[in-house]
Amino acid sequence: MFALGLSAAALLALGVRGDLDVYVDGALASGWENWSWSSDINFGATDLFEGLSSISMTQQAWAAFSPKLEGTFSEYAGLQFDVAGAPPDAQIYIESTGASVQSSTIPFSALGNFTANEFKTVLIDFSQLPPSGTPLGNNTWDRLNFQAGGNGASYHLDNIKFVSSIVIEPKFLSAEPLANNIIAVTTQGAVDFSTVKVTLNNATIAVSSKATYSPIDAPSKSITYLTLAKSLAPGALTIVAGGSTFAVTLPALLYGTINPANTTPISSAIYGVNFPPSASYLNDLGVTVARWGGNAVTAYNPNGDFTNAGNDWYFENRIADDGNADTWVGMVKGGGASALLTVPALDWVAKDSTSYSYPATLFPNQSRFDPYKPDAGSGQYADGTPVSPRMNQSSVYTPWTATNATAWLKALKNKPDIVAIDNEIEIAHSTHQDMHPDPMSYDEELSRMVTFAKASKAALPNVKVAAPSTCSWWFYWTSAVGYTDNTAHGNVDFLPWFLQQMKKASDTAGTRLLDFLDIHYYFQPDTSANDAAAKALRLRMTRSLWDPSYVDESWVGSDPQNHQPNPTAVWLIPRMKQLIKDNFPGTKLSISEWSSTADTDITGGLVTADALGIFGVQGVDAATYWWQPGEASPIGLAFWLFRGFGTTFGDLSVQVNMGGDTPTIANTLGFFSAKDSKTGKLSFVIVNKDTKPVSLYVSNIPTGNYFLRHFGGAAGVAKWQTNTTLKATNFLAVPSYTAVFLKQL
Ligand SMILES: *[C@@H]1O[C@H](CO)[C@@H](O)[C@H](O)[C@H]1NC(C)=O
Ligand SMILES: *[C@@H]1O[C@H](CO)[C@@H](O)[C@H](O)[C@H]1NC(C)=O
Ligand SMILES: *[C@@H]1O[C@H](CO)[C@@H](O)[C@H](O)[C@H]1NC(C)=O
Ligand SMILES: *[C@@H]1O[C@H](CO)[C@@H](O)[C@H](O)[C@H]1NC(C)=O
Ligand SMILES: *[C@@H]1O[C@H](CO)[C@@H](O)[C@H](O)[C@H]1NC(C)=O
Ligand SMILES: *[C@@H]1O[C@H](CO)[C@@H](O)[C@H](O)[C@H]1NC(C)=O
Ligand SMILES: *[C@@H]1O[C@H](CO)[C@@H](O)[C@H](O)[C@H]1NC(C)=O
Ligand SMILES: *[C@@H]1O[C@H](CO)[C@@H](O)[C@H](O)[C@H]1NC(C)=O
Repeated sequence: MFALGLSAAALLALGVRGDLDVYVDGALASGWENWSWSSDINFGATDLFEGLSSISMTQQAWAAFSPKLEGTFSEYAGLQFDVAGAPPDAQIYIESTGASVQSSTIPFSALGNFTANEFKTVLIDFSQLPPSGTPLGNNTWDRLNFQAGGNGASYHLDNIKFVSSIVIEPKFLSAEPLANNIIAVTTQGAVDFSTVKVTLNNATIAVSSKATYSPIDAPSKSITYLTLAKSLAPGALTIVAGGSTFAVTLPALLYGTINPANTTPISSAIYGVNFPPSASYLNDLGVTVARWGGNAVTAYNPNGDFTNAGNDWYFENRIADDGNADTWVGMVKGGGASALLTVPALDWVAKDSTSYSYPATLFPNQSRFDPYKPDAGSGQYADGTPVSPRMNQSSVYTPWTATNATAWLKALKNKPDIVAIDNEIEIAHSTHQDMHPDPMSYDEELSRMVTFAKASKAALPNVKVAAPSTCSWWFYWTSAVGYTDNTAHGNVDFLPWFLQQMKKASDTAGTRLLDFLDIHYYFQPDTSANDAAAKALRLRMTRSLWDPSYVDESWVGSDPQNHQPNPTAVWLIPRMKQLIKDNFPGTKLSISEWSSTADTDITGGLVTADALGIFGVQGVDAATYWWQPGEASPIGLAFWLFRGFGTTFGDLSVQVNMGGDTPTIANTLGFFSAKDSKTGKLSFVIVNKDTKPVSLYVSNIPTGNYFLRHFGGAAGVAKWQTNTTLKATNFLAVPSYTAVFLKQL
């Protein structure tokens, strides 16, 4: 959408400085060096070319074609090139080698649909990089990387150059009905609004006022809110603007009601993320909890900040990506959030920043080797089985005990609010096969949880303990040993057994050793195709969070695995709350990893907004998204919608009844209402997950002045906001694929 096909929209004009060629025919242009890696590159390919030749390349996983300028290319308007390849699993990012900074990554999938035998011209506008629309920003940029993804890539490039200016053709991009009487019009360039005409069911509606807003994230696109002289209504809406016609059918009303007298508390800790990058990020998005977690932290050694990502990256030690845990907790607190810190609970942590478990010199016959460090192997044979003999842990790790954990936590200058006992420890035999090759049993897992919970509370008496941070539905109910382990424990599924045992251990210890039952939740249906059907599935599968009648559209629904009631429905939050009530009352529920399944797609943003709303209604106590959402990405915008810049959704969930068949309505609509306990102001989040607009009549919504913000729809992922007056609330429109926030002023 932001990468304009030349034929379509962009007119190039030569500025004073002219364009800067990177590659034309046969060679890099003068001043450019070849800093490529792990790629087989032919600069003079003649099988497909424009001019005399092109670049043909075959890249291994994560390899790159990487030209570097002797100098900087700081002030160009954009990057243009021709690409042919069907469709390359590759991405582009720009780098400053001097400042050690790189741009956001731009996936080829955001640039166009490519074919193998035909060049298409791509123009990346530096004022709004796809897919999120963030500007490149000023820096000493000097290097360009066309990097393959995990599957490698083969494609052709030609005519690569930086362009000195991009003249945006004035254009009306979209016009959509919003709220009671607004048409939201997105535009690029200097359009003429006197040409705009709105008709509803063939009657012209006058525009009574107009306000334009241009978000910092997408400076070359604006939105103009046209306030109409009368309310919208179901029927045929037509907006004619500058030669474009936007026709929308506003459907029949969907009726519902809210009951502001009936409220339940929303935990502020549901708006969390994993590994936020900075305090300002936490502030901007209103993030309330930050988690230091994931596979690599299992090996975190605070004496040197060494870590090891295990099976995620060739079992290599390295310096922790987020540096020192103590400093990190300080950053989180500085951003006004609570910190959830993971305490390693296997018997080892990384001993340095350089060792790795499976050198090619000792294990030559491995399935894969690190493209950046060819001696470090996957630890597996080609058939996926672990290499043998087992490696000796002390070649890469140093011992770690409960005493070490207590000493570490006690010495922290910045105290975490919550500690999690390790991460997905039930699958350590896979993620950390080098540290813990044997499958984790019920008994061993419990023993580690109890030991390290005691060690944590000994160091920090007020800290809350979250455990066991189980990875997925399958392991909620059994262990890596298999069903013989269930059998050996009275046929009780894992999580209920764990809750019972933690209650017993807490009673014996005279103190609560488990404050949060912590799980990770990843939606099981496969939406990877990302086509229309997969998007609709992604958007309706949030029902698995609450709905007992939603048979999961995955193996969970067709092949139930556990001893739990209603086993084909995930019914996640009520199910977990019931397990807690039955087995260890008073324990809170946290979900320290969850994902929308599509971080860069608008539907991922809508799933995130829907899920945050559901967490509030259903009374989840804490949750942290996996993982760090880009601030201007669809996921970041879902957080912004609820919490951005200090204007927040209320802390009391207001009862909503959408009438009709609520579960079916929930396939395409999320409607959430809340009240501020201090001010009494009402707020609303409406998530239209449908590919057409929705018309709503929700009774008891007060008229008056509102702050309104939204993302999605034809307006794209940028953040848009305005103030509006709801003169009547018997008609509210939300455009397709759009999430809206309204709060009483
Ligand atoms: C550029 O580097 C790549 C990767 O190392 C190599 O395959 C290619 O031959 C180099 N090209 C030139 C012209 O040096
Ligand atoms: C690729 O093609 C599909 C279907 O025509 C279209 O919806 C999508 O926007 C295209 N992608 C890009 C990045 O142009
Ligand atoms: C980048 O530099 C240009 C020219 O020096 C300046 O006009 C622009 O404001 C700068 N942008 C930012 C984001 O600092
Ligand atoms: C609008 O006008 C068209 C053409 O005159 C007519 O066919 C259509 O029925 C009218 N629609 C409404 C809702 O009145
Ligand atoms: C290499 O691995 C395969 C299994 O993938 C095995 O059959 C073969 O014997 C191994 N060779 C050596 C030298 O270890
Ligand atoms: C493991 O390696 C350490 C350090 O290299 C050595 O001291 C120890 O004896 C080894 N243990 C085994 C069982 O090989
Ligand atoms: C664990 O504690 C022992 C004993 O105090 C100490 O020698 C060792 O350095 C500690 N290890 C780590 C990784 O902190
Ligand atoms: C909306 O109104 C509030 C309160 O009057 C004001 O602070 C804010 O700047 C306005 N926001 C927009 C986007 O106009």
